[in-house]
Amino acid sequence: MTQKTAYPLDIQAILSDFPILHQEAHPGKRLVFLDSAASSQKPRQVIEAMQRYYEHDHANVHRGIHVLSERATDAYESAREKLRAFINARTRREIIYTRNATESINLVAATWGRAHLGPGDVLLLTEMEHHSNIVPWQLLAMERGFTIRYIPVTLQGELDLEAYAHILSTEPVKLVGLVHVSNVLGTVNPVEQMIPQAHAAGALVLLDGAQSVPHLAVDVQALDVDFLAFSGHKMAGPTGIGVLYGKRELLEAMPPYMGGGDMIKRVTLEKSAWNQLPYKFEAGTPAIAPAVGLGAAVDYLNNLGMENILAHERIVVDYALDRLSEVPGLTLYGPEPAKRNGVATFTLKDIHAHDVAQLLDAEGVAIRAGHHCAMPLHEKYGLPATARASFYIYNTTEDVDALVDAIYNARKLFGL
Ligand SMILES: Cc1ncc(COP(=O)(O)O)c(C=O)c1O
Repeated sequence: MTQKTAYPLDIQAILSDFPILHQEAHPGKRLVFLDSAASSQKPRQVIEAMQRYYEHDHANVHRGIHVLSERATDAYESAREKLRAFINARTRREIIYTRNATESINLVAATWGRAHLGPGDVLLLTEMEHHSNIVPWQLLAMERGFTIRYIPVTLQGELDLEAYAHILSTEPVKLVGLVHVSNVLGTVNPVEQMIPQAHAAGALVLLDGAQSVPHLAVDVQALDVDFLAFSGHKMAGPTGIGVLYGKRELLEAMPPYMGGGDMIKRVTLEKSAWNQLPYKFEAGTPAIAPAVGLGAAVDYLNNLGMENILAHERIVVDYALDRLSEVPGLTLYGPEPAKRNGVATFTLKDIHAHDVAQLLDAEGVAIRAGHHCAMPLHEKYGLPATARASFYIYNTTEDVDALVDAIYNARKLFGL
């Protein structure tokens, strides 16, 4: 199958960049990694950039005036500039380093949210949010007494846009928290339309880009989005580093998140004054090597071209949806192929997803099973768990064939 597939990317060159993929999962079973929505693998360019940094340039940033501290600071800040350009932020002051998308969202909740949400206010989320865009707000709502409402998800796995417009026009919504691409359904939400609608109703928008920024070009100025959260480890970068983008005027007006070194301009025993952006939100010694690694990941993705990445994934995901839909007893979740990306989530009759994943693992095929940190969505569909195959730049139609073969084997073992 693979030889016949014409990819927009040089797949052999990509595969040779990812050392981890060249191993057997079990004796005689090639590793087929289909769990990139949980965390992607890293090319050697990222691994080497971090190793080079530790071998030649490491010191603390923004502090010493010695040569290593200057080099470390340059490396850390030039990665920030790469990230700025990657999402087309106006200035690097709008790029706040965090640990991951989860921390980025918690930062907005704890600072902007605590200052602006109170009794009588409505925060609007969607039923397809990851727990990281639900729980921080529930914690804050307990403290501040505002109301959380949810945009319903249709049975086809899309947001109910009529309900969205209705809630915006009838309720005092201050912030819309919205996942760009669902990590369960693969739905690419129509944010180009939804963000202006929220603004027209006087609400800000926080976009959860954890599953979009790694896969498609996201332009914060074109979207006019107020906040964007994403994680480095899902976009070929290392763990321990993520980003919060925020419009400068919003970030300037927000109080700090954590207190400590680097985020202050002046400290007396009575009070402190805050450093300028982005440092106001970066207390303590940051994840310097992971930032350098994330900068290398951005270079890597840029070299491939985000349009090519999207086109490549389209081929693989469409092929997966086609092939999976032919498997008897398999139910696929999510909208039609044109409205989705990245993942194929399914159940196999009434067999528990964990059992399916375990049998697939025995064949070397790594998928994820469970609620994928989206329990409300699973409850809505009446499912305790689903199985999810997710795809990235290094996956091929051959991987899909291995997935489908392993599912047929599993069916036999379950007597289906
Ligand atoms: C849609 C979505 N949002 C947020 C997150 C949280 O990402 P992290 O665990 O890197 O903070 C994930 C992770 O799976 C996700 O898929």
